[in-house]
Amino acid sequence: MNSTRTLVNTGLAHNLSRAVTHSFAHQSASNALRCSYQVGLCAHRQFSTSRRAQIEVFPPSKDLPHIKETRAAWPHPDMTDKQLNNIQIDHRPTRSWSDKIALNMVRFLRWGTDLATGYRHDDSKPYVMNSRKWFIRFIFLETVAAVPGMTAGMLRHFRSLRRLQRDNGWIETMLEDAYNERMHLLTFMKMAEPGWFMKTMILGAQGVFANGFFIAYLMSPKTCHRFVGYLEEEAVKTYTFAIEDLDKGRIPEWNNMKAPDIAVKYWNMPEGHQSMRDLLLYVRADEAKHREIHHTFGNLTKDDPNPFVSKYKDESKPHPSNGFEALKSKGWEREEII
Ligand SMILES: [Fe+2]
Ligand SMILES: [Fe+2]
Repeated sequence: MNSTRTLVNTGLAHNLSRAVTHSFAHQSASNALRCSYQVGLCAHRQFSTSRRAQIEVFPPSKDLPHIKETRAAWPHPDMTDKQLNNIQIDHRPTRSWSDKIALNMVRFLRWGTDLATGYRHDDSKPYVMNSRKWFIRFIFLETVAAVPGMTAGMLRHFRSLRRLQRDNGWIETMLEDAYNERMHLLTFMKMAEPGWFMKTMILGAQGVFANGFFIAYLMSPKTCHRFVGYLEEEAVKTYTFAIEDLDKGRIPEWNNMKAPDIAVKYWNMPEGHQSMRDLLLYVRADEAKHREIHHTFGNLTKDDPNPFVSKYKDESKPHPSNGFEALKSKGWEREEII
């Protein structure tokens, strides 16, 4: 998978990257003193052109007469330290033409995203990433990552309605997947917010990707789940590299940064484990879970029961679950579980 880390070195790439960088750098200067959340040290809003009123994406609860708190629709399953630290970069080799199409689509999209977000992570070349560039990448990726789960869930919901058949539990897992990705986005939006350039890119990317995925899912759900499995392999890489960079001291702004409240509540982050590094560990584990879910769904037929919410005849044997107990990076094979 080295090709996915390739530096995009064309003139177009350079110019586009410079345009993004310049745009955000300019905005950053004018907004540098604004804080989006309390971090002990006041964190600078990295790149924002929005007025204060627009950036309250997750406003503090107002003093409403009857409502005390609005909880997360899908509470996040707990994770142990061991589970968080055990996540590894992995790749499921292709076994069919459908797999190859899915993988090449991901490689192509990755190339485009690297270009758009000015991303480069190659130890043989000078280091170009920084806090601002990482946040641009996280935010852009999460706006795209939350599309497949919602689209797949919606299409399976409609299929169940029109065919008057049970769905066998896939819809909820797909919607939870989309919800989880959106929580990643909302968390990073608390730390930095895109300016007009990135907002335009997000709009365009959603327009193309959401429609493309919708049509592709109607044609071949299996290929689409494999595609998302490969996309999640890339997401695990991205967050692993970000954690490595933090550990190497390449992003000093993150050393004392605290995870925003929305993240502490959602992941139920324990006291003493609420740093930026902890946050990245939680997000990476979620991406590894998505990788497992979509690679597994890519191995099943669409009428199979959802193995992540099923009860097993032999519960003592390792099997898929909603949690992080027996995570399989390449997904579960159909013969193992159905
Ligand atoms: Fe994500
Ligand atoms: Fe994901």
